[in-house]
Amino acid sequence: MKTVAFFNNKGGVGKTSLVYHLAWMFADLGKRVIVADLDPQSNLTSAFLSEEAYELLFSGSVRTVHGALVPLINGTGDISEPYIDAIGDRIGLLPGDLSLSRFEDKLSREWPSCVDGDPRSFRVISSFFRLIKNAADRFQADVAFIDIGPNLGAINRSALLSSDYVVIPLAPDLYSLQGMKNLGPTLRDWRGQWNDRLARKPTGLDISLPRGGMEPIGYILMRHSIRLDRPVKSFDRWMTKMPAAYSDFVLGVEDETSAEHPSRDRYCLGMLKDYRSLMPMALEANKPIFHLTAADGAIGAHYAYVKDARDDFGKLACRIANQIGMDLSP
Ligand SMILES: Nc1ncnc2c1ncn2[C@@H]1O[C@H](COP(=O)(O)OP(=O)(O)OP(=O)(O)O)[C@@H](O)[C@H]1O
Ligand SMILES: [Mg+2]
Repeated sequence: MKTVAFFNNKGGVGKTSLVYHLAWMFADLGKRVIVADLDPQSNLTSAFLSEEAYELLFSGSVRTVHGALVPLINGTGDISEPYIDAIGDRIGLLPGDLSLSRFEDKLSREWPSCVDGDPRSFRVISSFFRLIKNAADRFQADVAFIDIGPNLGAINRSALLSSDYVVIPLAPDLYSLQGMKNLGPTLRDWRGQWNDRLARKPTGLDISLPRGGMEPIGYILMRHSIRLDRPVKSFDRWMTKMPAAYSDFVLGVEDETSAEHPSRDRYCLGMLKDYRSLMPMALEANKPIFHLTAADGAIGAHYAYVKDARDDFGKLACRIANQIGMDLSP
């Protein structure tokens, strides 16, 4: 089972919508998927669940990612078994929770203490990894996807450490370029720091710890932020900068031969179009775009987009599967 995080510290590029659609596409193509919503904003959870279903998570014992962390946060024990919300037959959701933001401080404090070999710090830092692993084993998942918020804070460090691979959704603009400049070196620093900590793991610690792989497998160009009032030329200018920026900043290698355009770049996993009003329509209906029907309002020209979405996400899912050594065919 491989874990893939979708991350860019630039906000609003469409990460959550992407994870949502990919989870459904992998499921439609026969795979069992765990989806961990580790962004306290919980937008991914809202996409999967109706408001009533979301509210139900908070009745009685809180059945969100945060709920499973409570004993660890309170210092009364370790993580408890996470609740898995079954979406259809093949998706298992670890629901997000705004309260997760309160875990940020603890994760920050425990990070340096791992260097002293403190067993409790290792429990805290590895908690997301262990929640996902536990859920994936119980759900017999083929793959796990992690959605995270747009920042380089301690929650995201632990979330990313839990992943084997990282996919970077990008908008073709200056902000995403700047985002890559921060992201690449940060991933490398975190990987190095985690390796130092792993070397100081206390003997007898009976928990599994992440390897801290976080291998970047490519980027996805999200076109939805094209503004109609912005000249196409400026949009194209940013597009052509992305292949070299990805090599330089994310991979940390200066590649003189990097592609001139994402469409010819081996690291570009795909380009997603602007689905315009179909995206909010889908999220509102708690369905991916490619499940929308006329009854949901997908009529006329919209219907062509529904079909396009099935092809686009199908291809993207296969490309990602291929990069992580998984067999998936449309
Ligand atoms: N391909 C797309 N076509 C049209 N609209 C889109 C597309 N992708 C995302 N959107 C819309 O853009 C907005 C932001 O998307 P989303 O929440 O997925 O971004 P995000 O990167 O997860 O944001 P954050 O950084 O806050 O977590 C949403 O309103 C969503 O409906
Ligand atoms: Mg998001």
